[in-house]
Amino acid sequence: MSLAANESYNGSDMLKHCVGVVGTGTMGRGIIQLLLQAGHEVYFHDATPGAAAKAADHVLGMLRRALDKGKMSSAEFDATPGRMHACDALAGLANCDMVIEAIVEDLGVKVELFRKLEELLADSSVLATNTSSLLVSAIAAGCRRPERVAGLHFFNPVPLMKVAEVIPGVRTDAATVATLTALIGGTGHRAVIAADQPGFLVNHAGRGLYTEGLRIVEETVASPAQVDTVLRNAAGFRMGPFELLDLTGLDVSGKVMHSIYEQFQHEPRFRPSSLVAPRIAAGLFGRKTARGWYTYLGDKKEEKDEQAFPALPAGLRVWLDPAADDEAAMGELLRAGAVHTGAVQRVEQASQADLLVVQCWGSDASSYCAAQGLDATRCVALDPLPGFTRHRTVMLTATTRAESRDAAAALFSFDGTAVTVINDSCGFIVQRVLAMIVNIACDIAQRRIASVTDIEDAVTLGLGYPHGPLAWGDRIGPARVLRILTGLQSSTGEHRYRPSPWLRRRAALGVSLLSPEPMR
Ligand code: NAI
Repeated sequence: MSLAANESYNGSDMLKHCVGVVGTGTMGRGIIQLLLQAGHEVYFHDATPGAAAKAADHVLGMLRRALDKGKMSSAEFDATPGRMHACDALAGLANCDMVIEAIVEDLGVKVELFRKLEELLADSSVLATNTSSLLVSAIAAGCRRPERVAGLHFFNPVPLMKVAEVIPGVRTDAATVATLTALIGGTGHRAVIAADQPGFLVNHAGRGLYTEGLRIVEETVASPAQVDTVLRNAAGFRMGPFELLDLTGLDVSGKVMHSIYEQFQHEPRFRPSSLVAPRIAAGLFGRKTARGWYTYLGDKKEEKDEQAFPALPAGLRVWLDPAADDEAAMGELLRAGAVHTGAVQRVEQASQADLLVVQCWGSDASSYCAAQGLDATRCVALDPLPGFTRHRTVMLTATTRAESRDAAAALFSFDGTAVTVINDSCGFIVQRVLAMIVNIACDIAQRRIASVTDIEDAVTLGLGYPHGPLAWGDRIGPARVLRILTGLQSSTGEHRYRPSPWLRRRAALGVSLLSPEPMR
C-alpha cells in the first residue's frame, strides 16, 4: 500500500510508503522518527510487551523537540500521530510495502523473523535488515524470495547521521536496491551502496584510525592522549581513536574489532591490538565505567597536563636538513622562532650545531641519521605532513639527548603552538594513521566494495572525517602515501602496511586516487 504523494506533510512529491519497523530499541526508534519526518505511514512492533507504545511516546517527544526548535512546523507535527501505528502483534505490519528490521543482533532470531514476515507480507514487499555485523546474504538465504532482501544500515542517532548503507546480498535484485535507495534519498539522508562484506563500507573504512592508533601506542611511540591530541589538532579529526573507544565502550568496540578481523580471514590490517583484551578483562570500558584510556568524573574527562619543557637555552645553534622537502617552510619557521626568541642561530654545518632538525618520509629518525652520517644524539625530526601552523610533532631518534629534545620542544613552541614530542617511528602519528586510512579506502575501491563517490560521502557523513579518504590521499600526494607505507612495511616487516594496488598504480601514473577503473 503506497500513499498518494499529496498526503505528505513535507510537501515533497516523493512516493509515500507504508513502512514497517520491527524492533523499537535505539535504532528502531530513530528509524521510525526519520520515516515519519519524511511523510511515510509507519507501523512498528517489538517483541517486548508495551515496547512499541513506549517507542511511540519517545518518538513523539523527539518530534515535539524538533517543533520547539523550529525544525518542524505545527502543521507537520499535528499530522504525525495519525501516521504512527504501534502494533502489539507482528500481524499489524501485514499491509506494509517494506519492512525494516532492527531487532537483536542474532542470525537465528533474524532469520526466524524474516521467515514470519514472508508469510505475512505480499510478495512484492521489500525486506531490509539493519544488521551491523551479520552477512545480509545469510539472513536472505533463509527466505523464500532472497531477491527482495537487502541490508539497510543506519547509524546512531539515525535522524542526525545523514547516511545509510544499502547492502545487496549476493542474490538481491536491482529493484530492491533501487527501492531502498529512493526511500533513503526521500528522507534527506545520503544512500550509499556497499557490498555484503565485513563492516560494509563505513565500519570497514573506519578501521584504520583504531588499529593504527593502537599500534602507535603498542610500540610506545606516543601515549593514547598524545595520539588523540595530535590527530584532533593537527589532522582535524573530531575525536581521536582513544576518545572514540571510550565513548563507544571498549567491550563493544573490542568485539567489533575481533569480528571484522575474523570475517576478513585474519587480514593483518585489522588485527586487534593485544592491548585491548587485558583492559576489557579489567573492566576499563570507557565513559560507562568512568575509566578507560582516560578517567572520567561524571561526564567530564580528566585532563592531564601537557608535556612541559625547560626554557630555550640562549645561543642555540640549529642546523636544518637541506635535503628536507619542506626545507623552505622549516627555514621560515626557524627564522620566525629566531626573531621571536632572539636566542637561535641557524648554522650551515651539522658539526657546528647543538640541534639538528631533519625530515624523514618513509624512514624513522634513527635510520635516517645513520644513513646520512648525522649525529643522532643531537637530532630530532619535525612532521611536515600537517603543516607547521596548528600543532607540531617532534620525533626523537633512539639516542636523542634530553638537552636536544628540550631545546627542540621549546624552539618549536615559541609562538604558543602546542608541541608533542614522540619516540622514534617510521612515520609520525598523522602520517601513519592517514596512510592507513587512505590505503584501506584504496582497497575498498579496488575490491569494488563501493564506488569512489560513495566511499568519500560515507566516510565524511558516517565517520565525520574532515575529508573523504581518497581526496585526503590526493592532498597528501599518492606518492608520499606510498612512501610512508613502503617505509613502514620494510621497517616492521609487516604485511599490514602493504600498499593497495589501487594506490600503487595511481601513484605510479601520477593521477588522482579518485580516478575510477575504466571498466566498472
Ligand atoms: P536494542 O537492544 O536497543 O533494541 C532491540 C529491540 O529489538 C528491543 O526493543 C527488543 O525487545 C527487540 N526485539 C528483540 N528480538 C525481537 C524479535 N524477535 N521481534 C521483535 N522485536 C525484537 O538494539 P539496537 O541498538 O537498536 O540494535 C538493533 C539492530 O541494529 C541490531 O541488529 C544492531 O546490530 C543494529 N545496529 C545498531 C547500531 C547501534 O549503534 N546501536 C548501529 C547500527 C546497527
